Amino acid sequence: MTDAAASEGTPGRTRGRLIAFEGGEASGKSTQAARLANRLGALLTREPGGTAVGERIRDLLLDRAVADLSDRAEALLMAAARAQHVAEVVRPALSAGQDVVTDRYADSSLAYQGYGRGLDLDEVRSLSAWATEGLWADVVVLLDVSAEVSASRLGALDRFEAAGPEFHRNVLAGFAALAQADPGRWVVVDGTGLPDEVEARVWDAVSARLSA
Ligand code: TYD
Repeated sequence: MTDAAASEGTPGRTRGRLIAFEGGEASGKSTQAARLANRLGALLTREPGGTAVGERIRDLLLDRAVADLSDRAEALLMAAARAQHVAEVVRPALSAGQDVVTDRYADSSLAYQGYGRGLDLDEVRSLSAWATEGLWADVVVLLDVSAEVSASRLGALDRFEAAGPEFHRNVLAGFAALAQADPGRWVVVDGTGLPDEVEARVWDAVSARLSA
């Protein structure tokens, strides 16, 4: 997959690195993404969302009153939010030499719309590739938390959280399979324990990967 951002920006200035946090519901991603962004001095953003258009798409996607959204429409809305996010926020930052930490990115579409909803994985991958013009995360941090721990942390449920245990088992199995298939890009971090403990594990894993 080509990465056009690598050749953009000021000559001689290194492109920033894109680090994505992935995982199931209530895995602690948002807290850990914010802490890592702070340590790296990186731009913190999220999906679906990260732009005014993306946040409006997010409201629709998470709304439990939207009961009859088709799986393909869901995948396209995720991709639309991602296209706007990359064009407006992520690619300009990377091109300017800024690191970016995002709370979810393209691999969430593979896990949720692919493994969870049952859409064809290669088609979901192609959709993200088209939306982002081939921009994939340099490092993906999978916060590994069991379905039981995540269920115990949830409050009021959004449209995805309310999708049922089998859907979420498939999403978690999907993340595990994706991480196993591409160990050069993924780091799997134990997400159980206190936030400070998880932060230390994330830092050890990511700093080793970024300096490699
Ligand atoms: P998020 O805000 O990370 O939710 P949480 O903090 O509860 O984990 O993400 C919103 C929901 O959107 C989450 O249930 C996962 C889902 N999602 C997809 O289904 N596909 C995608 O491509 C993305 C980015 C998110």
